[in-house]
Amino acid sequence: MARVFTPILALLLVLATTHAAVVRQFPPFERQQHQLIENPNQRAAERVDEGTYRLPNNTEPVEYNIDLTTNVHDGTTAFQGTVTITLKVLETSSVIVVHARQLEILEATIRKSDAAESTAVALDVAEDKEREFLHLSVKDLTFAEDTTWLVTIKYSGNLRLDNGGFYRSSYTDETGATKYLATTQFESTDARHAFPCYDEPAKRAIFTITIHHDPSYNAISNMPVDAAKSSPGVTAFQPTVKMPSYLVAFIVSEFVSSEGELNGLPQRVFSRKGTEHEQEWALTTGMLVEKRLSGYFGVPFALPKLDQAAIPDFAAGAMENWGLATYREEYLLYNVENSTTNTQTNIATIEAHEDAHMWFGDLVAIEWWSYLWLKEGFATLFENLAVDLAYPEWDIFQTFHTGSYQSAMISDGNPSVRPMTYYVEKPSDISLLYDSIAYAKAGSVLDMWRHALTNTVFQRGLHNYLVKNAYSAANETDLFDAIALAARELNYEVPALVEDMMSSWTRQGGLPLLTVERNYNDGSFTVKQEQYTNNKDAKGDKTWYVPVNYAVQSNPDFRRTEATHYLHKDQNLSISDAALKSGEWLILNKQSTGYYRINYDTHNWQLISHGLADRPHKIHPRNRAQLIDDAYRFATSGRLSHFVLLQLLTYLPQETQYAPWSTANSVISVFNRYLSADEAYENFQFYVAALVSEQFDKFGVNDQNGEQHLVKFTRNAVINVACLAGLKSCLDETNAKLQALIAHGTPIEPNLQTPVYCNGLKQADDKTFDFVYDKLMHSNNQAERRLLISALGCAQNEKQLEKYVSSSIDMNNQLRTQERYTLLTPTYSRGSVGLNVCIDFLLKNWQAYAQLNAGFGGVNPLYSDILGMSSYVVNDSQKAKLQELIDAVKDSEFVPATLQASVDTNVEANMAWLASNRGPIISWVTSFRNGSPALTASLLAMALCFIVAMLF
Ligand code: BES
Ligand code: ZN
Repeated sequence: MARVFTPILALLLVLATTHAAVVRQFPPFERQQHQLIENPNQRAAERVDEGTYRLPNNTEPVEYNIDLTTNVHDGTTAFQGTVTITLKVLETSSVIVVHARQLEILEATIRKSDAAESTAVALDVAEDKEREFLHLSVKDLTFAEDTTWLVTIKYSGNLRLDNGGFYRSSYTDETGATKYLATTQFESTDARHAFPCYDEPAKRAIFTITIHHDPSYNAISNMPVDAAKSSPGVTAFQPTVKMPSYLVAFIVSEFVSSEGELNGLPQRVFSRKGTEHEQEWALTTGMLVEKRLSGYFGVPFALPKLDQAAIPDFAAGAMENWGLATYREEYLLYNVENSTTNTQTNIATIEAHEDAHMWFGDLVAIEWWSYLWLKEGFATLFENLAVDLAYPEWDIFQTFHTGSYQSAMISDGNPSVRPMTYYVEKPSDISLLYDSIAYAKAGSVLDMWRHALTNTVFQRGLHNYLVKNAYSAANETDLFDAIALAARELNYEVPALVEDMMSSWTRQGGLPLLTVERNYNDGSFTVKQEQYTNNKDAKGDKTWYVPVNYAVQSNPDFRRTEATHYLHKDQNLSISDAALKSGEWLILNKQSTGYYRINYDTHNWQLISHGLADRPHKIHPRNRAQLIDDAYRFATSGRLSHFVLLQLLTYLPQETQYAPWSTANSVISVFNRYLSADEAYENFQFYVAALVSEQFDKFGVNDQNGEQHLVKFTRNAVINVACLAGLKSCLDETNAKLQALIAHGTPIEPNLQTPVYCNGLKQADDKTFDFVYDKLMHSNNQAERRLLISALGCAQNEKQLEKYVSSSIDMNNQLRTQERYTLLTPTYSRGSVGLNVCIDFLLKNWQAYAQLNAGFGGVNPLYSDILGMSSYVVNDSQKAKLQELIDAVKDSEFVPATLQASVDTNVEANMAWLASNRGPIISWVTSFRNGSPALTASLLAMALCFIVAMLF
C-alpha cells in the first residue's frame, strides 16, 4: 500500500495555489472503466468469483476479547496480543476465514461455546497473504450451521511506523526529550494489523479490550475504563456496543485531557502535555456540535462518552472511531494567541464531520465500501450543517460552496468519472474511493435534496434511516426508502419514485448542464438538460431528475429553495406562465443549491451582468459566485464568449462577500498562471487592478476586531488578487509586515500570515528567506508549519528554492514524515522558476524522493508531483525539460506505465487552453486598458439594450 490522498491531504497540496482561506479541494480521480455491480454480501455457496477479497459469509463474529501488551513508552515496537473471537456459524463449513496482516500467529485454538466442559483443540492455520486471510480449520471437523465457537489466537506484531494500523507516533516534550505513543488508524482495512478479525464494515460485534502498558502511561479506547478490572499498568475497557472493526481505537500515551459535559454526554479532548491550553476550543465546539447533531437527527449519541484526541503523526485529517475520534494536531488544537480563524473554523467543521459519522457510519454502518459516500457524503454535509446550526453567523455554506460544491463539479465534469456508488474489493482499490466523489459530490447532492424536498422532509427521512438501521449496515436503497417514507408521512408530494430520482445521481457519474432559452416576446422560457463535461466535445448522454426553481429581477426572492419544477430524465421543461419582463434577468437555482451548471442565452447573460453592476446584492452571494464559476467554465470550454465573462467580472468593485471573491480569485489565479509570461501581461494586470482596487482599499491588510469570519477570509482573497495585480500598496504593505517581524519581532496577525509570508518571500534576500525557513524547521505548531511550507514555495530565487526542495530528502532536518512530500507542490505552482527548480531537483534525486512514500495510501509522491508539474507546463522549453525527467523515471517501479500518457494529456490541455483562451482574454483586457472604441461600443450597446428593456 502506498499513500492515500485523503481529502484533507489533497487540500493541503492544492491550497498552495489559492490562498483564500478554507477551500478544500480534491484531486480529480480518473477511472478507466465502471463497475456497478452490487454485492449484497452473498453467501459463499452463491459466489461465482473464486478470487474474491471478500470474506465468505459462512461465519460471523459475535464478540471479541482482545488483550494487548505494548511497551511503547521506551519506543519498543514489538507488541503481543491474544484475541478470543466468539463466532456463529451461518452455514456448515470446514473452514473459518478471518483477516490478519503482518501478525505472527503463535497459537490458535478453538472450542465450542455451549458445551461447558469443552476443551480447546488446536487449529490449523493457513495464511493467504494476498487476500490477508487466515484459513482456520481442524482436520475432520466441520462447523455445523447455527453453532457458536470460541477461537483463541495468540500472536505478536510490530507497531507500524507509517501511521497506519496499530502504530507508533512520537514528539518532543517540553524538556526536549523524545516521547512515544501507540495509537490506531484502522479505516479501511487496517484493524487486521492489530488483531485477527472479520475486517469488513458490515461485520459488527462487541469488542472488550484490555491493554497492558507501562504504569506511567495511560490508555483510552472507544469505551470508558472498567475500573474494577483495571490496575496500574493494566487498563480494561467496558464492552462496546455492536460495531465494525475499522472503528475500534486505542491510544497508549502520556496524553493529558480536559473535560466537559453537555446534553448529558461527557466529552474530553486529549493531546500531548504542554498543549492543554489549546484544547478548549475543540472541547466547547465538540459539545455544541454534538447537541446540534443529536437534535437534528432526533437520535441521541449512542455511547456513554465521547473523546477527541490529537495525534502528532497522523495520515488522514481525522478519523471517526466511535467514542474516540482522532485528529491531526492542527485540526484539533487552537491557540487563542496565534492560531488563524481558518484553523478555528476547520476545527469546528472537522469535528462536526467526525461527530456526524458517529451516526452516519458508526451507528448505521455501510454495507460495503461501495457505499462509502453514504457515510462520507453525510459527514461532508453535516460538517457544514451542524456548524451552521451552532454558529449561524459564520455563514459557513459560502465556504461549502467554493470548497466542496465547486470542486465536486470539476472532478465530475470528467467524462470517465466514477459514480457515487462504485463496487471494488481490494484494499488498494478501496483507498482510491476516498475522493471528491465520495465527499464533495455526495455532500453536494445530499444538500441539493435537502433543499429540493425541504429540510423538513429530508430531516425526517434521515431520522427514519437512522432509527431503522441502527446497529446494522445499510445501502443506498435504505436511504431512499427512509426518505420516501418521510414524504408519505408528511404528505409531501414528489414527482416520481424517490429511488428513481435519487439514484439517477448516485448510480451514474457526471452532472447536468441546463440550458435556458427565453422567449422575450411572451415571457416564457424552456430548460433542457444534457451531461456537462469539462471538455465540450467529450459528449455524454446521461440525464437526471433535476430539481429546479428560479428568481427574477422584479421579484428577487432567493429564500425558498424548494424545487418548484423538475426536469424529468427524458423531457425538456417549458415554463409558459413565468411572465418574465423582457428587460429583467432570470436566474435558475436559488442559492445555487442544485448540483448542476446553467447556461443562458446571451441576452439573459447580459441582463444578469447589468443586474450585477447595478444592484449586485439583489442576487444571492452563492448565485453570484456560481454565475462567475459557470461563466468561466463556459468561456474556457467554448460554450460562451469570453467577453461575457470578462464583462461580468466588472461588477467586482462592488462585491463584498466571500463566495464570489473566492471564486473570482480562483479564476484570476488561473488566468494569471497562463498569462504571467505574456507580452501583454501588464494589460491583464491593469484589468485585474481595476476589479480589485476598490475592495482592497476597503479591506486593507489589517484584521479588525470583531469582524465575522467570512470578512477575514474575504480579505485574504482580495489581498491575493491585489498583489497578483501588482498593486503597489499591496506588495509594500505585506512586505513591510514581514520586515517588521524580522527587524523588530513585531508579530504578524495570524490571519495575515499567508499573504504576508508569500508576498514577502517573492523578492526576499537570503536573510529573509532563511528567517522563514528556520522558523519552519523550529516550529512546534503544525498549523503554522503547514502555512510556512506553502509560503516558502512563493520564493522566486533559484538558490533559495533549491535549498527548500532539497530539504525534503534531508533526513537530518526537522521535517515530519507526512510533510516531506508537500514541499514541491507549493514550489512548482508559483511560477516557472519553481517549476524548473523542482524538475532539476528530481532529475538528480528522484530515487531518494520516491522513497518518501512511507507506506500509507496509494500514490507515490514522485508520480503525483510529476503529474502535478505537468499541469503547470505552458511552453515548449518547460515541456522538453519535464520530458527529460519522465525519460529518467518512466521505467522505474515508482510510477505507473500510464505516466507518459497522463503527462501528455495535461500538457496538451495546457497548450490547447492557451490556443483558445489567450487571444480573446488579451484582446479584451487590452481594449479595456486602452478604453478602446470596440469595448466602449459593446458596453454602450449593452447599456442601451438594458435601458430599452427597462422601458417595457
Ligand atoms: N473516515 C475518514 C478518515 C479516513 C480517510 C480513513 C481516508 C481512511 C482513509 C474521516 O472521517 C475523514 O473523512 N477525514 C477527512 C477529514 C474530513 C474533515 C474531510 C480526511 O482525513 O481527509
Ligand atoms: Zn469522513
